[in-house]
Amino acid sequence: MDAELQLRLVKVGEIYSPSFPIEIVQLFSGRMEQIKKVLSIIPEKGKHAVVYGDRGVGKTSFSNIIKILTEAHSQVVRVSCNSIDSVESLWENIFAQFTIPYEVATTTVSFKPTTSVLQNEIPLSDIIGQKKITVKLILEMLPYLNRPVIIIDEFDRVDSSYFNKKLFTDLVKSISDSLPTVTLIIVGVSEDVSTLIQEHESIERNLSQIYMPTMDAEEIREIILKGEEPLGIKYNLTVVEDIIRLSSGFPHFTHSLCSNSASLAITDRTNIVSDEHFKIAVNQTINNAHESLKNGYRIATLATKANIFKEVLFAASQVTPDEYGYFQATDLSPVLEKILGKPVPLQSYLTHLGKFCVLERGEVLKAVGGKNRKKYKFKNPLMKAFVRLNRTNDKYRAELEKATLTAGGLPVEDKY
Ligand SMILES: Nc1ncnc2c1ncn2[C@@H]1O[C@H](COP(=O)(O)OP(=O)(O)OP(=O)(O)O)[C@@H](O)[C@H]1O
Ligand SMILES: [Mg+2]
Repeated sequence: MDAELQLRLVKVGEIYSPSFPIEIVQLFSGRMEQIKKVLSIIPEKGKHAVVYGDRGVGKTSFSNIIKILTEAHSQVVRVSCNSIDSVESLWENIFAQFTIPYEVATTTVSFKPTTSVLQNEIPLSDIIGQKKITVKLILEMLPYLNRPVIIIDEFDRVDSSYFNKKLFTDLVKSISDSLPTVTLIIVGVSEDVSTLIQEHESIERNLSQIYMPTMDAEEIREIILKGEEPLGIKYNLTVVEDIIRLSSGFPHFTHSLCSNSASLAITDRTNIVSDEHFKIAVNQTINNAHESLKNGYRIATLATKANIFKEVLFAASQVTPDEYGYFQATDLSPVLEKILGKPVPLQSYLTHLGKFCVLERGEVLKAVGGKNRKKYKFKNPLMKAFVRLNRTNDKYRAELEKATLTAGGLPVEDKY
């Protein structure tokens, strides 16, 4: 492989990063509405933001960009929570990242440097030293900072065995009441704010709720087209529309489909990303998907004899759910009828839906409600997109097989 080709392929990886959050403003697409909302909250006294949404919609990327956009006027830190964090360890992380000028540290806080190395900025954690982190100490330290913005990502990961949410809420309330220039931005996977922030009644007035939905078609289009100029490529219009459709609003799949199809075009030494490149990219995207998605789908659609598990799951991925992501069994009938080309009575697929909710079938769906009012939902929203990708891949594979047979039945080896 020549050096120029290799360089272009490396660039593909810099622009499209399916497994890595965006860290550069130029590579960030859409989300204008949510950005405006967060930026308008920061100057509001005593107000904080809670950003919530499904897994993989782009919350961490969003919080990275908010950090960059606010850094000019505020001291900003971004921390990620983990499952063994306590309120204290979370604040230890926060204070380890905040710094105050050496002058302030030595004069105002009476900080005694332990080393002779002259530092311009001293981390707050050095000033706190061995002192125990308490609400009182947090409230004492925050005023030394300049309009601090504290972004707490992956808040859904804290576990109540270690993390005292009540204590955290009380702290948010105290910060709101006594330190009006401090802004907290709490980010996490959640269907609604109350599952993310329990005990939230007392601070409801102080919280602005910002829902992060899946990305719309124009936002996804922006991600795709962002690669054209720097990579010197052009996507076929049909490819752009297909990537938008198969992303199902999840930027992870957009990045993966773009990265694979652009790399194929570059390797082919053409500047046009064609439908053929895209078809192979779909297959690669499925193969590179997270094991939990691949396993879940495999177990859900496993069948020893002719069965309609695949079709029922695909139909479930096609129906328009309610605002909480739920659909009813009867919604599937028209979709299944279209797929199978014959009327499909509810009784012929109701058991399939039930099985999708149990572990033996990968538990890809979850159900709520009583016997006659049952509603279903994809447990992992990314699975919905993965099911659609598989359906398209099956279609492409079938077309390829047919073309091979027509060409004389000789097995055609995959080009890549
Ligand atoms: N606004 C955006 N523009 C371009 N790409 C994006 C954007 N938002 C997210 N992405 C891409 O989508 C993928 C998922 O993003 P990210 O990790 O930020 O999601 P998340 O919601 O934090 O996921 P999780 O729920 O797993 O924490 C990454 O590949 C990221 O680069
Ligand atoms: Mg994240």
